[in-house]
Amino acid sequence: MEIKECRSCDALGRKMKHLEAFIDITTLVNSTLDIDEIKKRAIESAMKLTNAEAGSLLFVDAEAKELYFDVARGNKGDNVKTVRLGMGQGIAGWVAENHLPLVIEDVQSDPRFYKKADARSGFTTKSMICVPVETRTKLIGVLQIINKKDGMFTTEDMVMMVSFSNQVAIAVENARLHDELKETFYKTVHAFAETMEMRDPYTGGHTKRVMEYSLSIGRKMGVPAQSMTNLRLAAILHDIGKIGVKDEVLLKPGKLTAKEFSHMKGVN
Ligand SMILES: [Fe+2]
Repeated sequence: MEIKECRSCDALGRKMKHLEAFIDITTLVNSTLDIDEIKKRAIESAMKLTNAEAGSLLFVDAEAKELYFDVARGNKGDNVKTVRLGMGQGIAGWVAENHLPLVIEDVQSDPRFYKKADARSGFTTKSMICVPVETRTKLIGVLQIINKKDGMFTTEDMVMMVSFSNQVAIAVENARLHDELKETFYKTVHAFAETMEMRDPYTGGHTKRVMEYSLSIGRKMGVPAQSMTNLRLAAILHDIGKIGVKDEVLLKPGKLTAKEFSHMKGVN
């Protein structure tokens, strides 16, 4: 009786540790809006959670109706990045088409296995967990976890990967929506600056050129991504003060008087 209780305690302890790791990792994946960082963290975390040798994240190319390897980790991960799979092709294609997870003990004997991926990477896929990465309405891709380092993948591992991939899907979708929103914001601000610029045809295209030169200099200087975002916005808006300048001052061809110059500076 005592032994049985201890075993239960051990199992419960393991599950608690797993749950803690799962929460930590899910928080990590969801703590950034940088889509490339999310993908990288997702695959590394999935490998860590299941103690796997390798893993990859395939994304849907909606136009071509194909899956492509976006992130691959493990010794020879980079070699498969050019491989594309049709919907229904290979294990990942099957998972994408059927919206169902799979745990496969012997991948080599599975008729769905697309052997060219191994041929390209020189890697031998033995066992695999493959789960769809999807939100309630949209299939984003497929997550593959390959070769468990100790023993075989379990149904428990697969269930954990299904929950994890749901979190990854939400994180990717949030990052995409954030990028779209940011782009819409820039377009709106740009349109606003251009409308204002039309008051003064002499400076036509000036805002766009200032933005392009600023970003080009910023890139050359190795300015960090967040500062580049601020630089882009500052360049677009750098002449926004003209909005409060009277036409007779803004469009005056000759030299400004002291009073007009003060008005231009926004003093009065
Ligand atoms: Fe300017």
